[in-house]
Amino acid sequence: MKEPDRIHQNIFFSVIDGLILVSPYLSILHSNLAIEDMFHKSRDAISNRPLEELFPRQPQILDKVRKVLVTGASYHDVEANGARKTAAIQFPVNLTLSPYLESDDTIQGVIILIKNMSLIRELEEQQRPADHLNNLGALAMGLAHEIRNPLGGIRGSAQLLRQDIRKSAHREYLDVVITEVDRINLLVKRMMDLARPVELKLKETNIHKVLEDILMLEKETFARKKGRFQQIYDPSLPLIEADEDQLKQVFLNLIKNAIEASQEGGTLQIVTRVSSDFAVKTRSASVPRNNITVEIIDSGEGMDEETQKKLFTPFHTTKSKGSGLGLPISLKIVEDHHGKIKITSEKGLGTTVQVFLPIRQR
Ligand SMILES: Nc1ncnc2c1ncn2[C@@H]1O[C@H](COP(=O)(O)OP(=O)(O)O)[C@@H](O)[C@H]1O
Ligand SMILES: [Mg+2]
Repeated sequence: MKEPDRIHQNIFFSVIDGLILVSPYLSILHSNLAIEDMFHKSRDAISNRPLEELFPRQPQILDKVRKVLVTGASYHDVEANGARKTAAIQFPVNLTLSPYLESDDTIQGVIILIKNMSLIRELEEQQRPADHLNNLGALAMGLAHEIRNPLGGIRGSAQLLRQDIRKSAHREYLDVVITEVDRINLLVKRMMDLARPVELKLKETNIHKVLEDILMLEKETFARKKGRFQQIYDPSLPLIEADEDQLKQVFLNLIKNAIEASQEGGTLQIVTRVSSDFAVKTRSASVPRNNITVEIIDSGEGMDEETQKKLFTPFHTTKSKGSGLGLPISLKIVEDHHGKIKITSEKGLGTTVQVFLPIRQR
């Protein structure tokens, strides 16, 4: 084999990935500097040694090299393990095998480009917990479907039985069955909503109307606690582009939480304003947009830091009959609208929930 000329030699030595030239007898003829770093061996120690010493106990690699020699084909993306000093210390590599052709087009060896994959593999390793969560999400979705079908059966049967039963006490038991089934159903449905991407039905929305509808719904519950709503609305608040039904769900969740946290005779403030002080960053671009702010301020029990950290964790609740889904669902809806939720709270003093929503979606 001829000595390579200077330029070629320089290229060969300068490439940052490892490069070796393997003879037809599967020994290493040349290697570049990157190989020394990667395998922790000097070029002299590698020179003329069998290829197998770099990739011990991997006959499939030697087979591929032989195939290149015979057929002239090349291989990309070949996974292998490189060995340092002893075969026990190995690191992942990715190989590209090409035939080394002399000027008369005869195959005189095999060029192997070697990429060290250690760092990439480490990063992949770190990201696995997220994949794990995705898998759990898919599992939860599957499970939710499976739960809802038998529930339908249970509910239907209980209803039929109820019609045939005279004794009213027994009928009440069946009423319990039916309401509890409905509760599970709702819970499962909410969980599915959380996992499933929802399409927003956008239209010009009057936030004050959304809020008033919710306050109307919740007035009685709050009255039982002798509570009082105090609306401080900005009359110049513009209509916003939003999915009205979805936003109703958000404010229902938030106002319910505030009522549940309130003591007897508490006041709950609902404040709206156009905000110029807060720039909602959109997911696609970081252009600040005009947005509105809705604040729900209660003077209720507040929360300790531990609870505040877990606010948006699904199923985290401090209530005996809570679902722990209200806030995660609300956050998802608000984020779907390219908005934000900010919660500040002090144990014993109360909680302020700020919802920022862009006026325009685009
Ligand atoms: N306004 C509030 N005041 C005090 N604690 C709150 C408030 N809003 C939410 N929390 C706390 O956050 C938890 C999670 O809320 P949420 O996701 O709505 O689920 P849930 O209301 O079913 O418990 C509640 O259990 C409560 O501990
Ligand atoms: Mg809630």
